[in-house]
Amino acid sequence: MTTSNRAETTPMTYDVEAIRADFPILSRKMHEKPLAFLDSAASAQKPRQVIDAVSKVYENEYANVHRGLYQISEAVTTRYEGTREIIREFIGAAHTHEIIFTRNGTESINLVAHSFGRNFLSEGDEVIITALEHHANIVPWQMLRDEKGIVLKVAPITDDGELVMSAFDDLLSPRTKLVSVAHMSNVMGTILPIKDIIDKAHAVGAKVLIDGCQSVTHIPVDVQALGCDFYIFSGHKLYGPSGIGVLYGREELLDEMPPFMGGGDMISSVTFEESTWAKLPHKFEAGTPAIAQAIGLGAAIEYVNGLGLDAIGAHEADLLKYATQQLSSLEGLRIIGTAPTKASVVSFVLEYAHPHDIATIIDRAGVAVRAGHHCAQPLMERMDVPATVRASIGLYNNRADIDALVRALGEVQEMFG
Ligand code: ALA
Repeated sequence: MTTSNRAETTPMTYDVEAIRADFPILSRKMHEKPLAFLDSAASAQKPRQVIDAVSKVYENEYANVHRGLYQISEAVTTRYEGTREIIREFIGAAHTHEIIFTRNGTESINLVAHSFGRNFLSEGDEVIITALEHHANIVPWQMLRDEKGIVLKVAPITDDGELVMSAFDDLLSPRTKLVSVAHMSNVMGTILPIKDIIDKAHAVGAKVLIDGCQSVTHIPVDVQALGCDFYIFSGHKLYGPSGIGVLYGREELLDEMPPFMGGGDMISSVTFEESTWAKLPHKFEAGTPAIAQAIGLGAAIEYVNGLGLDAIGAHEADLLKYATQQLSSLEGLRIIGTAPTKASVVSFVLEYAHPHDIATIIDRAGVAVRAGHHCAQPLMERMDVPATVRASIGLYNNRADIDALVRALGEVQEMFG
């Protein structure tokens, strides 16, 4: 992937302690212990720069967008629309009107399933997903299958959590109309070979949606270099506010797709007989949007750009290696997801304790992880585990966080082992 349009802002050194100071919540104590926050894959913490950007909107600049013929409405509209340009540059899109604001990643996929799926897919058309998908990239296609009679095919994964590329190849055919895959597994951290997947899907005439909810925080993305048709992500995992998500779609596809929801802002004209639609991107943005959240997302992306995704990725890769080594030394611990190409997530089970018990116990030591099926029940079944503990690493984590996790797991071992 190229990063040619990304700001050349990577600093010479990555000062994680200075970065941690930007995140007010990280100085909190949990149960009188320092907080070791290892759940950024669920939702990331917010830096002061994002919190201030959101507060500033409400304190000084708040009004509705696109509607007011007065100064603060015009000013906030400019800032809101300016975020679209920040996102366009961040993912290398050709046009700002290819950036659609949604509520979250899930809504972005549902928008494609409703608008593209219901209008351009018919009975017998095939949609391919993989065995490692999040429920958000399974359930919308099942709903479409039940309504339209499309066929949902699932590409298998190996015991290490890698896509079986030969099996994916075998599923592709002229009947394949859409391939919808995660860029990175939220459970195992596996990075999928999406360029290869996109090229192969396009060779049979299929469109491709990439679920980038996990990847955009770790890996530079260039949607034009990738050639994907849709790329989706959420703001809250990218150190931005919750309630804001992004759908990138290629202009020619978005132009052909009908609106997802009807209401204000998405119309050109309305009579009781008929309505006509606004141009992109507003055609897909009915109602008052998440104004402060969008502006906060812009601040979050500027923050990430300021550190440089390459530098963030290198720091996280170092920590992932450290975490993997330290966790592997614990007796009875098995890591779920050992693909050679993975990022920032380590899922594991302990043979003597249930993941929910582990998460509850280590919380007492100030360690926050996610435990459960991680909205990926079919993946749990494939890996033959009921649930896992998942420690996920963000740009602010340090070795002390990993040490706290390992120490707390030692205590679990003493209790149950
Ligand atoms: N999708 C989020 C996770 O993996 C919520 O935890």
